[in-house]
Amino acid sequence: MILVLDFGSQYNQLITRRIREFGVYSELHSHKMTAETIRKMNPKGIILSGGPHSVYDENSFRCDKEIFELDIPILGICYGMQLMALHYGGKVEKAANREYGKAMIDADKDTALFKNSPEHQSVWMSHGDKVVEAPASFTVDATSPSTPIAAMSNKEKKLYGVQFHPEVRHTEHGTQLLKEFVNDVCDTAGDWTIENFIELETEKIRQQVGDRKVLCALSGGVDSSVVAALIHKAIGDQLTCIFVDHGLLRKNEADDVMKVFAEDFHMNIIKVDAKDRFLSKLQGVDDPEKKRKIIGNEFIYVFDDEAGKLKDIDFLAQGTLYTDIIESGTDTAQTIKSHHNVGGLPEDMQFELIEPLNTLFKDEVRELGTQLGIPDNIVWRQPFPGPGLAIRVLGEVTEEKLEIVRESDAILREEIAAAGLDRDIWQYFTVLPNIKSVGVMGDSRTYDYTIGIRAVTSIDGMTSDWARIPWDVLGKISTRIVNDVQHINRVVYDVTSKPPATIEWE
Ligand code: XMP
Repeated sequence: MILVLDFGSQYNQLITRRIREFGVYSELHSHKMTAETIRKMNPKGIILSGGPHSVYDENSFRCDKEIFELDIPILGICYGMQLMALHYGGKVEKAANREYGKAMIDADKDTALFKNSPEHQSVWMSHGDKVVEAPASFTVDATSPSTPIAAMSNKEKKLYGVQFHPEVRHTEHGTQLLKEFVNDVCDTAGDWTIENFIELETEKIRQQVGDRKVLCALSGGVDSSVVAALIHKAIGDQLTCIFVDHGLLRKNEADDVMKVFAEDFHMNIIKVDAKDRFLSKLQGVDDPEKKRKIIGNEFIYVFDDEAGKLKDIDFLAQGTLYTDIIESGTDTAQTIKSHHNVGGLPEDMQFELIEPLNTLFKDEVRELGTQLGIPDNIVWRQPFPGPGLAIRVLGEVTEEKLEIVRESDAILREEIAAAGLDRDIWQYFTVLPNIKSVGVMGDSRTYDYTIGIRAVTSIDGMTSDWARIPWDVLGKISTRIVNDVQHINRVVYDVTSKPPATIEWE
């Protein structure tokens, strides 16, 4: 295991990911972690990440100095290198201006990190302060015109520092450098794979659960599906899933979920048909936020009702991912958001939590799902909001309007898949704005609904751009929707990015 200590750089998740790509398990933790805890974790190497602070700031992040005495190889990146330099008696100079962007370095090819990359190479710099005098026991391994000490090392103690960011793609040979540190300096085997994750994790779940029982809320989304399949592999019928069908799912979705998990995987699933309950609560409500609240609350009531009928449940399984945990903060300035899976659990919850995906990134979860035999339509499912189609019927939700969205959405999905675009477009769906317009069909005037198509490219849903779907594909979708879906006489395409719009229309 390679431990990455987080000093707040926006790139530090990337370091962990890059290392896992080498087949070496890696975790990101707070810089506050004590040397004693680290010693017990027994990592093969430690990486001190970059960070936004100056080492001279009054409240700048520091690590336990004892970690330098653990006799574990350390790589300091940017701020991490400066901390290392100060600790060993080097000099760090506070800069007036930041150096940001591409720089050329000359590297010493007789040193561990640069031995397999060119002498002259481009790197990505993003720093204010810099090391101006390496500690006496260190050698300078790379220089650039503006940063004479761009890399340094103490070979005997296996301590390395780089001023630039090897984890970002703009550093031409950054991956190689990290690999040299992880594989060579830290002497790791590179044998961490999803297959042995399954083996280790199922064993861990068996140990933790013993002969007790686990409950899981299955939504058919990627995370809950994978967590259910993994736990089922570990403990079989000791797992019970509750699948709430709130009547706001897409066409055939509930049946597909039941087919895969109840029929093919033979899981214990309680399917709750709560459509009437949700629709009656939504009757007459047109405010988007009220709709969301009603659905969220009702979901908890339905789940609690069903869970209350079960006996002897000790654990609640959740599909919390590693990013949810990291983004909820590792004690750095980089706290982005508090994720609902982490921060919003009821305080009186009587279950113990089991979160076996909480060390994995999303792409690793997808790979795990595939290895567990979950079909592609679930593993590669696009994000789908908890309130479902209710926020794609603008204004009051009725059964008739839900049907229009469901049918038009099914056509859109079919055509996007037929055009081979389903993995390129991050999310795509139809919405029913509450407007009617005039049209002509055959020889008659129509006065009917308009359907909107929303399709976006994105990485994480925080920002997005509208997808450039080829005109002929859009044309085909439009023709099919108008012909096959009752009460639609017009189709429009949303060409707004986020911001200023949001992805969903409500
Ligand atoms: P917006 O519309 O905010 O959506 O740009 C960003 C991403 O979040 C999804 N989304 C939700 N997911 N519960 C969810 O689980 C919600 O209430 C919710 N609202 C939006 C949306 O589909 C998009 O992927």
